[in-house]
Amino acid sequence: MKSFLQLTIILGIVYCAIGVDYVITGRDMEFFKRCEKEDDEGNIALDEVFQANLDISYADDGEKYLANGNVTFKIPIPDGAIVKAHAEVYKWQRGEWIRTMFSLKRDDLCQAMFSPLEIWSAAVKSIPKEERICPPKSDTVYHLVNTSFQGEIPNLLIPDLAGTYKIVAHVTLAEYIICMSAVADVWRA
Ligand SMILES: *[C@@H]1O[C@H](CO)[C@@H](O)[C@H](O)[C@H]1NC(C)=O
Ligand SMILES: *[C@@H]1O[C@H](CO)[C@@H](O)[C@H](O)[C@H]1NC(C)=O
Repeated sequence: MKSFLQLTIILGIVYCAIGVDYVITGRDMEFFKRCEKEDDEGNIALDEVFQANLDISYADDGEKYLANGNVTFKIPIPDGAIVKAHAEVYKWQRGEWIRTMFSLKRDDLCQAMFSPLEIWSAAVKSIPKEERICPPKSDTVYHLVNTSFQGEIPNLLIPDLAGTYKIVAHVTLAEYIICMSAVADVWRA
């Protein structure tokens, strides 16, 4: 299951403006999925909330994945509903996922989502302006065009940043809490 919200969250965690030293890439075609049971504090399954029709392919440079297609919401979210996000990042170390210092929190995700000031704005700018409805209604469709699964990270002065990471994001849409998860690799550019 692929999610536009989740993509923005992931890029939000890793995307920064100053000097790029590391690259992050989604693990495989299953970059986005429902959380494992132990991570899931949600109250509704991802595929009940929206349907993703995304075609994932390699870019011409053969190095990164591109997502093309659409994401359609299936549940009604009332106007003015609270939409917020909270993501935690874990690193695979010695056979287990260890929580890191990286996390992200937005108490008003709708306000942040399409803001050009947000660090993930590069990832969502392919969505046409007239589709930028937030909170989404029960038939809101977001189209993605060549949205990259790859981001860049500045050198955060952490000696062993390279590795495999898991991002666990909880998104609250009115009374619904959705858990989404992704695994990504980080390496030195
Ligand atoms: C969403 O994508 C699917 C599969 O590519 C396509 O059949 C459908 O027409 C698209 N829907 C919209 C509203 O673009
Ligand atoms: C999307 O990416 C493909 C493959 O890299 C490229 O051929 C195409 O021109 C791109 N389309 C747009 C609208 O950027």
